[in-house]
Amino acid sequence: MRTVDLILRKRGGEELSVEELQFLVNGYTSGDIPDYQMSAFLMATYFNGMTDRELSGFTEVMMQSGEILTLSDIPGVKVDKHSTGGVGDKTSLICAPIAAAAGVPVPMISGRGLGHTGGTLDKLEAIPGFRTDLTLDQFRAQLKELGLCFIGQSDEIAPADKRLYALRDVTGTVESIPLIASSIMSKKMAEGIDALVLDVKVGNGAFMKKQVDARRLAQAMVGIGRRLDKKVQALITDMNQPLGYAIGNALEVMEVSQTLQKAGPADLTRLSLELAARMIFLGKITSTLDEARKLAEDRLMDGSAYAKFKQVVAAQGGNPQALDRFELLPNATGMREILSPRAGFVSAIMAEDIGRASQMMGAGRSRKEDVIDPAVGVILEVKIGEKVEAGSVLCRLYYTGEENLDESADLVEDAFRISGTRPDERELILEVVG
Ligand code: URA
Repeated sequence: MRTVDLILRKRGGEELSVEELQFLVNGYTSGDIPDYQMSAFLMATYFNGMTDRELSGFTEVMMQSGEILTLSDIPGVKVDKHSTGGVGDKTSLICAPIAAAAGVPVPMISGRGLGHTGGTLDKLEAIPGFRTDLTLDQFRAQLKELGLCFIGQSDEIAPADKRLYALRDVTGTVESIPLIASSIMSKKMAEGIDALVLDVKVGNGAFMKKQVDARRLAQAMVGIGRRLDKKVQALITDMNQPLGYAIGNALEVMEVSQTLQKAGPADLTRLSLELAARMIFLGKITSTLDEARKLAEDRLMDGSAYAKFKQVVAAQGGNPQALDRFELLPNATGMREILSPRAGFVSAIMAEDIGRASQMMGAGRSRKEDVIDPAVGVILEVKIGEKVEAGSVLCRLYYTGEENLDESADLVEDAFRISGTRPDERELILEVVG
């Protein structure tokens, strides 16, 4: 088998067999297939998609590229949550401690920022000392003891996705239904969970811009879960503006801390509670979804979710005091305000441009080897529907270097639309699949 022949066939729209996909995935993971050939294959897949058979085969081959964990010695229904990627999306750091405080064991394997979107691992690593590179034995032990552990993808779990994820990030091949579905499901199905809650984002800050595509992505992932005998439920949620007000790793950790202390933004709190409720329900802690919603709210309100998060931060080497004393988190050295050019109502905020600007200032990567700057990002002062005056502050950019600052500021300035009439209220949770 020759890699170039498989690329040509994929480029021509032909279906590849499971053996051929295995050859590509294993060859790339072992280093026998170089980045340039895999990039060509990814781009051909981006344009031509995959059949259902290819998607199942590709996902299983990626899943089998590493160890498949068994967590059956840990009592309870193990449930994880994953998002397809958004801007300001820090719900994992809120819903996971809520669900764990309600008694659900949550083994969470998370990803890094991808394209213009942030990643849970990069956010956690903004907490001084926090380690996401635990061994699988440490992961298991912490899950047993605290009911929650966050780790990054190692070379042990779905290593093929780890390598492909980094390659897609820098080759313009992220926004593809089969590539996103196989990436998420291969690592999630390898981590030994019983159930999974997915947050499929749709809108200008998501990889899926149209609801019909988000639905297809959700159905693809729910279908993969079903074939592997796992309960998977997906919420399709609005990403036509950043979630919450903070974008950028340490800034988002601050907002997580506020939200876990009941002082978070309404949209972020609402979505995190709903995701936690779905985790609690799939985790069979309650017999109805309404009971699960009530329990999630109780665990947020009684402070036990925040206490759980602090325990987990300490257990993974992080300084839990940084969650109360933000001066202990990485802080930016400069700040620039973006002002409204006119009076009116905020009618749109192009979340992708805000994410892109934040990435350009150092919050994300544009090359695989780039190192993240945890301190930088954007804090919105307004959200869609709010009234603004000419010259009032729309948002603040926090930076540590001036290299891409002007370009980022231009991007952010153009991201706001101000109109004469108040826009209609928008739904946050649009659909449930599965
Ligand atoms: N999250 C992932 O893990 N993979 C993707 O491709 C997109 C979001």
